[in-house]
Amino acid sequence: MKAVIPAAGLGTRLLPATKAQPKEMLPVYDRPTIHYVIEEALASGIDDILIVTGRNKRSIEDYFDKSYELEYTLQKAGKDRDLKKVRKITDLADICYVRQKNLIGLGDAISCAERHIGDEPFAVLLGDSITRSKTPLTKQLIDVFSQYNKSTIAIRQVTPDRISRHGIVSGSAINDNVYKIDNLVEKPNVDEAQSDLAIVGRYIITPDIFDKISQTEPGFNGEIQLTDALSKMDEVYGVKFDGDVFNIENRLEWLKSSINFAMYDDEFKDDLISYMKTFI
Ligand code: UTP
Repeated sequence: MKAVIPAAGLGTRLLPATKAQPKEMLPVYDRPTIHYVIEEALASGIDDILIVTGRNKRSIEDYFDKSYELEYTLQKAGKDRDLKKVRKITDLADICYVRQKNLIGLGDAISCAERHIGDEPFAVLLGDSITRSKTPLTKQLIDVFSQYNKSTIAIRQVTPDRISRHGIVSGSAINDNVYKIDNLVEKPNVDEAQSDLAIVGRYIITPDIFDKISQTEPGFNGEIQLTDALSKMDEVYGVKFDGDVFNIENRLEWLKSSINFAMYDDEFKDDLISYMKTFI
């Protein structure tokens, strides 16, 4: 299976940090957000990856490319550990790129992948959200997809204050964690939402989505929404995910993500806690 990582958006909620650098390149603790996303795809058995980029996104390509000067300098200085780290990034995966010319929504970003994907189901991992779970989330979706062969998306329960920030789905439970979805709405008002199940940013989608996107009118925020295109499909399944999700959508969420990952690093965890205590 191939994966598509949309990463063309402007990241306006994170300005000025995103004025001259992609949101997806903002580091969460020790590496760019999109690095974690690629790692999830690889851990799910996917090594054919297409990143949808745009203007101002060159640093994504540079990050995954070979860095001759840096490698040469590290090698000469005998910094073998750092050299290994740098080479590991280049060797991670074979990545292709396509540019989204007009930033008119996630649905449009996905349609830019049509030629690369062809007539096969594919995974979508949003470039600004990181997940952490025992079994990688995309792998969990692939497993459910292989039972139904219909588009399958990750969902999770959210608190009422977050409902209007997500795509919200409703449907009937098939078992403990799988739902047959009959309604998908992008960022509804909390009083109009039919449930508290939000789309998490990971999808396995069948290729008929490309036709559905071309039939989709601009929706929330005047953008071509992937959620609206998915709502035109005859069967969609939802997999309830109970791991951690970090969407670096705004300053607070970005900061929380970095702290969370730092707390998993035994080298700095205790120092971080005592530093935070000085504020608390
Ligand atoms: P978001 O809507 O959260 O990102 O899209 P954004 O538009 O960059 O952020 P704001 O609202 O201006 O702050 C989720 C993911 O989809 C990509 C984004 O790059 C992000 O990784 N995306 C979004 C595209 O690739 N193209 C689009 O037209 C919109």
